[in-house]
Amino acid sequence: MKGQEWYQADDVAEEYDEKRFSQGGRLIDRREKQAVLNAVGPVEDKQILEIACGTGRFTAMLAERGADIIGLDISGPMLQQGRERAQSAGVADHLEYMRGDAGRLPFPDDHFDVVFAMRFFHLADTPEEFLQEMCRVSKDQIFFDTFNRYSTRSLYNWALPMGSRLYSGSEVHSLLEATDLELVAAEHDWIFPYGLYRELPNRVASTVRWLDGSIRSLPLGDRLASVSYWDARL
Ligand SMILES: C[S@@+](CC[C@H](N)C(=O)[O-])C[C@H]1O[C@@H](n2cnc3c(N)ncnc32)[C@H](O)[C@@H]1O
Repeated sequence: MKGQEWYQADDVAEEYDEKRFSQGGRLIDRREKQAVLNAVGPVEDKQILEIACGTGRFTAMLAERGADIIGLDISGPMLQQGRERAQSAGVADHLEYMRGDAGRLPFPDDHFDVVFAMRFFHLADTPEEFLQEMCRVSKDQIFFDTFNRYSTRSLYNWALPMGSRLYSGSEVHSLLEATDLELVAAEHDWIFPYGLYRELPNRVASTVRWLDGSIRSLPLGDRLASVSYWDARL
């Protein structure tokens, strides 16, 4: 598993949000949250599990909307950031954070309505096993994202401290088939990679984002997207 050790460090956890989601990174945070909201829909009366929840960007957002949600992560320092976020958002009593391994979820079969993971599958050496485990504890919906193989991400992936597993569309389809999941929706986005956006000041990032949308709207534009959001049902 890539990054399991990496995210155990206090300084990595403390800098996680600032490094990724300030400047042009704000656009990424906003888009990822939108992807989660589009997939999950109204959250009242839904029991939701977020695996690899990290600093709780989505856990807190869904708790604010009234979800019954647990955020699970293997890193104590990342969860600590999540607790602080929940505290300042006033939702600490409306969510639960749990330390645990996504490969052995401490829940019975068919326990949640929705199980999702963001920015997790690029770390996974054995994605099918993790997806299987997510399916085991869900009675309905599975949602996750991938970084894509045939995209600008592949240009700098090799230079990242731990690299990322990149997926082709057909690999994801095979994973869904192997776990008996039915794909109900997929969104493909970000011609220019996340790494570029987070280096750019807000105004420049907005211009690049506009260009990004223009390229994506061309025929076959989606095929160049560096990120995909996958919404599936059991
Ligand atoms: C890139 S961060 C993503 C955090 C969050 N989902 C987000 O999008 O901001 C990856 C997270 O996966 C967690 N992680 C890595 N391996 C894990 C495992 N086996 N079980 C649970 N969490 C894991 C790390 O601790 C880290 O918080």
